[in-house]
Amino acid sequence: MRRLLPDPGPTTVEEQLEGYRPWEEPREERPLVAMNFATTVDGRAAIGGVSGPIGSETDTAMLAGLRTRFDAVMIGAGTMRAECYGRLAKKPETRERRERLGLPPEPLMVIVSGRLDLPWDAPLFTEGGEVLVFTASAAEPPQTESSVRVVRRQDFIDLGQALRHLRRERDIRALLCEGGPGLHAELEGGNAVDDLFLTIAPKLAGGGAPRILEGELPRVAELELAWLLEDGGELFARYRRRS
Ligand SMILES: NC(=O)c1ccc[n+]([C@@H]2O[C@H](COP(=O)([O-])OP(=O)(O)OC[C@H]3O[C@@H](n4cnc5c(N)ncnc54)[C@H](OP(=O)(O)O)[C@@H]3O)[C@@H](O)[C@H]2O)c1
Repeated sequence: MRRLLPDPGPTTVEEQLEGYRPWEEPREERPLVAMNFATTVDGRAAIGGVSGPIGSETDTAMLAGLRTRFDAVMIGAGTMRAECYGRLAKKPETRERRERLGLPPEPLMVIVSGRLDLPWDAPLFTEGGEVLVFTASAAEPPQTESSVRVVRRQDFIDLGQALRHLRRERDIRALLCEGGPGLHAELEGGNAVDDLFLTIAPKLAGGGAPRILEGELPRVAELELAWLLEDGGELFARYRRRS
């Protein structure tokens, strides 16, 4: 892997992320929020309905590396239904690495769901650990091996409020949001995205798959490029919101 910007030269995923310490920069009333997405050159955020076929092994390593640097990971219900997540930090070495950085051994998994229509047989719910669900549904989640805590709101989850809840009630200093495109639009619309990690895979997929952001924004968000890496023709960008 090489770094194209800034300071061109050889690098690795690990080396690049070493100095990235988002938990040291919580905002006043919410965690620092970073989004992570992979896209094809024609802007598709899914191939065959899932994101896995977009990126390479290096992209997977980048995502795994990022996950070791956040207190919590958030996804929308659509992403959970499509991607069927498992636990985020099962390996002892991952948990130890996180603890050495001063982070909880496993990130808190947070799901935003209007209807609470989630794949309850997914490994995330059967492998133990803790999941926090913000929902507008009055339904009760089924009994699962993992501990599922529910925060209920009426009709709609205000993501600004949800972020404040995570900061105040759960001491979440840094949150990695892994999508999907609907959640991204809501967070951007609320000025709540600080960093955007974007992998651009050298592929064209066509079809009608969503882009990395789907929905209206009140205004165009201006970004600056904080770094750009390349590996085998795949680009790894980190954008920051221009303040
Ligand atoms: N390329 C990538 O990096 C990447 C990353 C993530 C996802 N994806 C792809 O994106 C697709 C999924 O897209 P999506 O738009 O369905 O995903 P999404 O944004 O993860 O989920 C949308 C759902 O989240 C819930 N939700 C979001 N905001 C809410 C709010 N404020 N209040 C209540 N509920 C809220 C609703 O759930 P309910 O339906 O429960 O009401 C809504 O239907 C999949 O194909 C996935 O593979 C790609």
